[in-house]
Amino acid sequence: MQEINVKAANFTYRVVIEPGGIARLGRDLRLLLPPAKTLLVSDTSVYELYGEIVEKKLRDEGWQVSVALVKPGEKAKSLVNAARLYDQAIRDGLDRNSPLIALGGGVVGDLAGFVAATYLRGVPLVMVPTTLLSQVDSSVGGKVAVNHPRGKNLIGSIYPPRLVLIDPVFLMTLSKRQLKAGLAEVLKYGIISDYQFFDWLELNMDQLLRFNLVLLTDAVAASVRNKAKVVEADEYEKDYRRILNFGHTIGHALEAATAYRHYLHGEAVLSGMYAAVDLAIKMKVLSTEDAGRIDRLLRQIGRRKAPADLTAEAVIDKLRQDKKRLAGEIFFVLPKTIGSATIVAISDRDLICEAVKTVLGK
Ligand code: GLY
Repeated sequence: MQEINVKAANFTYRVVIEPGGIARLGRDLRLLLPPAKTLLVSDTSVYELYGEIVEKKLRDEGWQVSVALVKPGEKAKSLVNAARLYDQAIRDGLDRNSPLIALGGGVVGDLAGFVAATYLRGVPLVMVPTTLLSQVDSSVGGKVAVNHPRGKNLIGSIYPPRLVLIDPVFLMTLSKRQLKAGLAEVLKYGIISDYQFFDWLELNMDQLLRFNLVLLTDAVAASVRNKAKVVEADEYEKDYRRILNFGHTIGHALEAATAYRHYLHGEAVLSGMYAAVDLAIKMKVLSTEDAGRIDRLLRQIGRRKAPADLTAEAVIDKLRQDKKRLAGEIFFVLPKTIGSATIVAISDRDLICEAVKTVLGK
């Protein structure tokens, strides 16, 4: 078992990482709260795989479990679904000490987290992430949100969980495509904040891509340690936490320009990292030697091809609309060396256009 303690503004929470660790959910939750009512939020696919065992582990320790299910996919992160969860929480009599448990990937975590942050002005949130991306990123750090028709995550908050329980065995049922999307976020930590981890990834990427459970467990733990370091330094994203958005500027624009249908989030981020490396070389922020090493690992994971009809102009239009844009400038996180990054405002449209074209293959 590996345990990482994350200091949030008002409390410290445990992130527990253990293959087979789902067995400890009811017990670990008892360490926080006396057993009472709880609402388990999941999506229908994840619930079909793991719902029964998770409910059993909770009931065995005295928890009374209600279940709320949403359809898999980004569309579930809506205010309509949040309202349904409030209705259910009220109907089932959940009170201020009743934890909401999010069992699923980033969508379920964000939605359940948003409801936990707002129901009765906040009830305890427990994350049980089941995808690699949610295990290494969205379950830690407290970002919770639902989408608005005009954009992703426009309505949300920073609301840290009281417990994150990560069972890497869940990763064994992921598709190769989902695994690769998660590995993009794992590699992100090596590039922006952890040189030794990058070295380790160079040695082990091949085995990670083959679902090696022992190595995946270590990769998750190293990623969570890196994420914890960043969010402890800047929980409310005043500045430093923005480095976690490496690959996300162009990544978000690619997702938006393809109506969230073509790319998984991690796939779009991986493409965005290619573009950011291109910008970093052209702006002489990054040496060609370090860029070459980063490029090799990005290629090893493999980039999802852009749709043939996607134009650089369409992506740049979305970049301009991005909520992170300020005063006409677009901010990019660029690697400086392997293990460190800088945030740069770029207004040179041609430079950005060239970087976008590197991922469109045009
Ligand atoms: N996913 C980026 C962050 O948590 O800040």
